[in-house]
Amino acid sequence: MATQTELYAVPAQQDDDAAGQAAFDAVIADDSRIEPRDWMPEGYRKTLVRQVSQHAHSEIIGMQPEANWITRAPSLKRKAILLAKVQDEAGHGLYLYSAAETLGTPREKMTEDLIAGKARYSSIFNYPTRSWADMGAIGWLVDGAAICNQVPLCRASYGPYGRAMVRICKEESFHQRQGFEILLELANGTEAQKQMAQDAINRWYAPALMMFGPPDDDSPNSRQSMAWNIKRFSNDELRQRFVGMIYEQVKVLGLTLPDDQIRFNEETGKWEHGPLDWNEFKEVLAGRGPCNSQRLARRREAHENGAWVREAAAAYAAKQARKTEVA
Ligand SMILES: [Fe+2]
Ligand SMILES: [Fe+2]
Repeated sequence: MATQTELYAVPAQQDDDAAGQAAFDAVIADDSRIEPRDWMPEGYRKTLVRQVSQHAHSEIIGMQPEANWITRAPSLKRKAILLAKVQDEAGHGLYLYSAAETLGTPREKMTEDLIAGKARYSSIFNYPTRSWADMGAIGWLVDGAAICNQVPLCRASYGPYGRAMVRICKEESFHQRQGFEILLELANGTEAQKQMAQDAINRWYAPALMMFGPPDDDSPNSRQSMAWNIKRFSNDELRQRFVGMIYEQVKVLGLTLPDDQIRFNEETGKWEHGPLDWNEFKEVLAGRGPCNSQRLARRREAHENGAWVREAAAAYAAKQARKTEVA
């Protein structure tokens, strides 16, 4: 029986690359979809493997900061919701690893790169979760930023990626609402609870804005990704849109954003915000954030502890394959 990876193995180089390129260009010009067996430029394949696998790693590593609070959720209801949310993130990781595999890179390779510290994932998940209110701030701001980023990806030109994003976005909407609702309840609670919610927003605001990636001037690959219909809007455009959204929503909470420079510029029609610390962003991406080593150590440990499950699943699959052959 063919494995998932073999099914989607990269086809042998076409005899005529020029014909392949022309067909590819026509699909992109038509704003239509590229599928796994279609010819695609090497750069397109590489860009997607990098983006989709980083996205998958982010979902998987992103389970950790919130899993940190499952045992300390303040009620059974909150615990059940948080458990469901963290499980959703595991599911997102799995859809995305499957989408990346259709480009010819085996999942084992992606996992090895992650636990060896060679692969990147979203910088946001290297920040600590200090209080219960952080579950609210993550849902509202981090999942909120993810939605802004990911809704346009539902139309990404690579079919398996776009289709995975449709389902993921539906679940992210629930994540954002549950986060907002945690903050709303705290904001209407005691003075100490309100303070806890404000403190969480203060800590997560800037890292959430940096989730959209470096400013456009400092994002050399963005233009090519937009030409390939992978990305639809630039980092800054998405970030500005997000700022406008949370600027209105924070009023409902009766709390504030730690940025007194947010304003809507009537002339440009864009939202503006205060400066962000891009050095911090680069440091965290380079592995020197507050929790990087802890997150990777935990992932490595979970991978090692799961070795027997993978071995048992492979042995079972081999046994089933033998039975099919005999029959
Ligand atoms: Fe997710
Ligand atoms: Fe989420």
